[in-house]
Amino acid sequence: MGLTALCPGTFDPVTNGHIDIIERAAGRFDALVVGVLDNPSKEPLFGAEERVGMLKEAVHALGNVEVEAFTGLLVEYATRRAADVVVKGLRAVTDFEYEIQMAQMNHQLAGVETLFMTTSPQWSFLSSSLVKEVARFGGDVSTLVPEHVAARLAEKLRGMA
Ligand code: PNS
Repeated sequence: MGLTALCPGTFDPVTNGHIDIIERAAGRFDALVVGVLDNPSKEPLFGAEERVGMLKEAVHALGNVEVEAFTGLLVEYATRRAADVVVKGLRAVTDFEYEIQMAQMNHQLAGVETLFMTTSPQWSFLSSSLVKEVARFGGDVSTLVPEHVAARLAEKLRGMA
């Protein structure tokens, strides 16, 4: 039986940094589930279905990757999907404090193991929040997110103006 990894996140929207982690994790596990948190109280710019759609388009060439939305506790979702490990990307030391807390909590709650992958240096500055901020002020995000995501961002922000 193969190993399944779960890559969870908000992905509002997916960035080239996320895709880097997904591609590299997909190369190391037999199956990779990308779990998109559907939590409207976080007030994401994109709804869960939109975020899933953008991710699916971004990873369509990866045959062992599945993308879907989830609600509730990550450990419950990980158990339901029979994930062997959770994989998260670490950009810098600033990510570490929050990530280690979540990893330890998930281990305490259900024995779920988290493996960290270091983000490729070229994307270590990149976050969905910064991409949204740059886009809101009319900046060019075409080198930071896939083309279709840049287009959806522009469309979404135009609709809000
Ligand atoms: O992309 P993000 O915002 O870093 O992803 C955070 C995410 C979705 C992995 C985290 O918020 C999460 O797991 N949420 C589900 C609810 C949950 O299990 N909370 C307790 C975490 S210890």
